[in-house]
Amino acid sequence: MWRLPYTAMPAAPTAAACRVLLPVRQKLPVGNAASVAQHGSRSLTRLVSPGASQQQRPLPNRVPANRQPGDLILPDLGHRRRAWLSTAVLEYTKYSLNPQTLKTVADFGKVPSKDNFSKSCTFLATEASIRLAHMIQEIRALPQDHLDESHISQVYEWYMRSFEDFALVATSQDSERDYNKSTSFLVNRVLERHAPVVMTTALGIRALRRTGAMRDDQGMNEFLDRFFMSRIAIRFLFQQHLTVFNAYIQDETTGAEEVNPKSSSRWVGAIDQHCNVAAVARHAAESARLLCEDKYLDSPEVIITTPPSSGEDGEPELVCVPSHLYHIMFELFKNSCRAVTEFHDGTTPLPPIEVTIVKGTNDLGIRISDRGGGISQRELNEIFSYHYSTAEEPSIFADNDNPQASDMNHAPLAGFGYGLPVSRLYARYFGGDLTISSLENHGTDAYVHLRANPLDATEVLPSASSPELSYTSSLKRPTVKHWLSQDTHTPY
Ligand SMILES: Nc1ncnc2c1ncn2[C@@H]1O[C@H](COP(=O)(O)OP(=O)(O)OP(=O)(O)O)[C@@H](O)[C@H]1O
Ligand SMILES: [Mg+2]
Repeated sequence: MWRLPYTAMPAAPTAAACRVLLPVRQKLPVGNAASVAQHGSRSLTRLVSPGASQQQRPLPNRVPANRQPGDLILPDLGHRRRAWLSTAVLEYTKYSLNPQTLKTVADFGKVPSKDNFSKSCTFLATEASIRLAHMIQEIRALPQDHLDESHISQVYEWYMRSFEDFALVATSQDSERDYNKSTSFLVNRVLERHAPVVMTTALGIRALRRTGAMRDDQGMNEFLDRFFMSRIAIRFLFQQHLTVFNAYIQDETTGAEEVNPKSSSRWVGAIDQHCNVAAVARHAAESARLLCEDKYLDSPEVIITTPPSSGEDGEPELVCVPSHLYHIMFELFKNSCRAVTEFHDGTTPLPPIEVTIVKGTNDLGIRISDRGGGISQRELNEIFSYHYSTAEEPSIFADNDNPQASDMNHAPLAGFGYGLPVSRLYARYFGGDLTISSLENHGTDAYVHLRANPLDATEVLPSASSPELSYTSSLKRPTVKHWLSQDTHTPY
């Protein structure tokens, strides 16, 4: 079976899709020439199975033969296990992330063959280990009193555990069938384990604020931007794997339907190749208006126009992840509905929210204009800060310290202060953006830009390897631009 030994990488497999999906296995580690020379001779396989020559007793390098798929956790080795994990995390962060383009992911998923299933498992087990290691490094760089906070420390534990699981699978010597099964099981389990991460982190930050331990709001904001962006990315790849290769994961394939390279199917996993952006907007508007009516017994009408764009009839279509687009639109409509209803309290009818959707050669642009009284320039500097909200704090923050079943998907109309920053991350994930401009005492315009060409839509990923990205202090604070400048495709 084809595996990734990293330092002695075999020739790329024959399938073109996989060559694209697994492009740069051996271009590591980062650092100066000496450290490259030193680390370059060590494979990750050896790293997680320290040789007998090493002073410490060797730790298990593979999953015990009698374990069941999914039963992937090492026995608790206490401080020794911790030390092993710490070293492994550090080593994995020397490996670059492999950002994918939307087109690559879509093309790869169009061929849900057995071969591609194996390649997807191999890619995910290793890439997830690397991405999780980078995220762990980000968390570790937080000040110690932040790490000691119970919610933050819970989040840290989840990431350590998931990293450990993936690192073990990535380097296991199981048969191809077992390896694929373990990886897919783990992908599913990690998705579930990490579902409450946003809410748990939010509770942690709230607690730090309340005790006065939060000394660097902007630094924390930048940490959260990087951390949540990584989370969005890894969850997207996981969900893509589970949906595209569902038949193999369930062991339902006979082989007959394996290869369908010319698949004209509209959906490739979570990607819609002909997403009707206006339809997603209509759906999001309806949901936001329902919430608004629930709270204020009224809601503004939403008028969507799609001026003709070059070369396309009808409403503009886009290759995109509709669930991401829906999230963005839903948050923006909730904000506009709330602003209009509160600003025009008692007026009937309420002034409508106007939406314009236009597709150009490079971008698809969406403008949402409301007459909800606008935002002052001073406030505009705050609105993309996590936890900035002019609404009442939602009861889940006040009463509930157990966010297991909650995530931001079931948010009330407003109050978390996560709507805009998280939506901007969804927009930026594949190279787009979200900006807001406003006229105080009048209204607000939100602009969403998405890449029109899926080949240009490359994952934007923060990397803990870049020293300037570490969370240190407000004096040495990185700007978000460091990892957002994607003009030359990828900095890795
Ligand atoms: N269209 C708008 N008009 C006026 N103010 C707005 C508008 N959009 C956002 N704001 C302001 O920006 C703040 C932050 O918005 P954001 O969506 O991030 O959080 P929220 O709406 O308060 O809570 P939630 O995370 O639940 O959405 C809002 O509380 C509001 O004061
Ligand atoms: Mg909001």
